[in-house]
Amino acid sequence: MLLSMLPTVIRENLVSRTLPREPEPDLVMDTPENVEAFAVAGRIDGVMSANYLFHSARITQLIQGCEQVVDLGCGPATQLAQIAGLNPGIQFTGVDLSEVMLEDGRRHVRELGLSNVDFAHDSMTRISSVEDASADAVISTLALHHLPSFEDLRQTFREVRRILKPDGRLYLVDLGRLKSLKSVLYFAYMNRAHQPHLFSLDYERSLRAAFVREDFERLASEELGSGARVYQTFRLSVLLLVTTADRPLEDAALRDKLQGMRNDLPTKYRKQLDDIRLFFRLGGLKNDPFA
Ligand SMILES: C[S@@+](CC[C@H](N)C(=O)[O-])C[C@H]1O[C@@H](n2cnc3c(N)ncnc32)[C@H](O)[C@@H]1O
Repeated sequence: MLLSMLPTVIRENLVSRTLPREPEPDLVMDTPENVEAFAVAGRIDGVMSANYLFHSARITQLIQGCEQVVDLGCGPATQLAQIAGLNPGIQFTGVDLSEVMLEDGRRHVRELGLSNVDFAHDSMTRISSVEDASADAVISTLALHHLPSFEDLRQTFREVRRILKPDGRLYLVDLGRLKSLKSVLYFAYMNRAHQPHLFSLDYERSLRAAFVREDFERLASEELGSGARVYQTFRLSVLLLVTTADRPLEDAALRDKLQGMRNDLPTKYRKQLDDIRLFFRLGGLKNDPFA
């Protein structure tokens, strides 16, 4: 797909009606091929690295001072391990419904020598392993679109509310459903030259299964109270974020570390990271930890 198509894609998303939702055929990612494609694409200099570093930085900023953080739909823990590595004084629990994903996550965390991450085999719609009001923060990255229905999303928001301490912090980010099929295909296959085919296919299915901003707005107000706000990437809701307010990252060493990780990204992924930062900034998100 050519970059010159982008203006068409943006225009179409302003005028079309939203595509109907198509829930994921594989709700839980538990085939070894799926896990492998997703894990490989995310690690080291994989196509997800800009996305991971963006969320690691924002989540790091949000959770300063927390003791216990729960990650819903942690998958192979690529994102979770990066956040845990940046925040060794905080304890993390990764929750996932796929044993195969959890096994990959456990191995990854072990290989990195991290001692501040444990895992729970559980559904985010009923997190029986986590007690009421026990989490200082709940995070989730690119997992909510796996839920079969809006009612499951509502149930997940209720669980988030249940396990969070009063005034707990929140960072739930996921893909947003785009309005035209052309734009779904544009984003799904944009990087097809350097990512496994299964990953592109999964990306397309995920975009078709994603919820829309209005779903997040409704549940944030009905289930989470006034503390959470919804943001999206400017004009195109490629990413949707429900989060509580944060403050600028004051820890200079952490800021330097994040800046170093940004500088270490291959040029094309550094540019992608800066694009995500820009599009969220234009969408109203303040306190950029890389600024
Ligand atoms: C696309 S992966 C995202 C993994 C990770 N958060 C990341 O950003 O790399 C989505 C994960 O959600 C998990 N999942 C799907 N439905 C779930 C549910 N009801 N409860 C918990 N995890 C679920 C899948 O098994 C999969 O590991």
